Amino acid sequence: MSSETIGVGFIGAGPVTQAIHVPTLARIGAPFRVVAVMDVDAAVAESVADRVHASWTTDATEILANDAVDVVAVCSPHRFHAEQVIAACRAGKRAVFCEKPFAMSREEAKAIMRVSAETGVPIIVGAMHTFDPAWVAARSHAEALLATAHTIRYSIVLPPNPRFEDFATQVVGRPVAMTPPDRSDPEVAAADMFGQVMGLAIHDLPLVRAFCPDFRKPQLLDCRIPQLGGYVLDLQVGNRAVRVEAIHTDGWQPEWCFEVIGDDSALRIDFTPSYVHAGSGTAVVTLDGERTVFGPFAQNGYEAEWRYLAALVEGRAEPLHTADLIEDVTFALTIAKQASQAARALVAGQQSGAAA
Ligand SMILES: NC(=O)c1ccc[n+]([C@@H]2O[C@H](COP(=O)([O-])OP(=O)(O)OC[C@H]3O[C@@H](n4cnc5c(N)ncnc54)[C@H](O)[C@@H]3O)[C@@H](O)[C@H]2O)c1
Repeated sequence: MSSETIGVGFIGAGPVTQAIHVPTLARIGAPFRVVAVMDVDAAVAESVADRVHASWTTDATEILANDAVDVVAVCSPHRFHAEQVIAACRAGKRAVFCEKPFAMSREEAKAIMRVSAETGVPIIVGAMHTFDPAWVAARSHAEALLATAHTIRYSIVLPPNPRFEDFATQVVGRPVAMTPPDRSDPEVAAADMFGQVMGLAIHDLPLVRAFCPDFRKPQLLDCRIPQLGGYVLDLQVGNRAVRVEAIHTDGWQPEWCFEVIGDDSALRIDFTPSYVHAGSGTAVVTLDGERTVFGPFAQNGYEAEWRYLAALVEGRAEPLHTADLIEDVTFALTIAKQASQAARALVAGQQSGAAA
């Protein structure tokens, strides 16, 4: 690769690669060039690689050994992230991008960060809202809320992802039919709840944590499962009352909103839906009755994370704080474990109530 070009190699080429990252990199253009695509499904790897005139493989070690790959983008299912990120660091790449969640335990997160420090290879986690320009602008104007916030609400109304993926591209290799989990089984409900917190709620839990100085022992007060699917979690985090909820709808209208409320100030961010390549969210900060609006900006969080990665590779930016990344995963895991136990107990209670 020439010194101006950053060659990107994907590990995992499912919907997030096809509908989010490849179109985002196409929009950004230089310095990025997708040079190699790996997926365990050969047809997916070949199809995605053909779109961008890259090479393809079903073997991740070929991506690591490929000298044209400067940056590895780990976009495989969650359970492979830690192992693949560590391997990419050990292969001496210039940076590693990893989709969220970058680890499924605190130990994994610490191991990744140890290897990143040893090898000097920086890691970026694809928590796109933490890069969204509306969040970045509003956060620095909402510092008063760090001391005074008492209520945090983080709410998602989510139509099925494929409807939005189809706005971006023609996805190949999508599972034919997803059988909804049998949530009347307590164990299924527990696993489903854990997966939803680590897969969906995790997006903005770093934002929640940013407004909870006393974040180490989040306490779940109540857990409900909406009939349409999703979660409604009420938490006490230090002295903050936190509501984290998602409702899966069969409609078209999405909503993704993050709110922090204090006595004399408030912050509300409405994020754009994923996959459709709209611009940033829009944030409203209210301080002593005065409203300031930030956004929408043309650049969304996905574009911002890749631009940050370019700056990192080119030595124009500092790496993310390791401790923050580890605490973000730990915060999410602590909530996921409590919510999972609560979902198990809730469903078991409903079953025994129905049997009585
Ligand atoms: N930031 C976002 O907005 C966003 C959106 C969607 C998904 N994601 C994350 O991206 C990741 C991938 O999600 P997805 O939606 O593409 O769906 P997915 O996880 O179903 O598909 C991933 C792809 O990885 C392939 N794969 C399976 N095992 C693999 C392995 N060992 N190595 C390499 N590839 C393998 C599959 O064949 C599939 O094509 C997940 O971790 C998810 O949390 C993030």
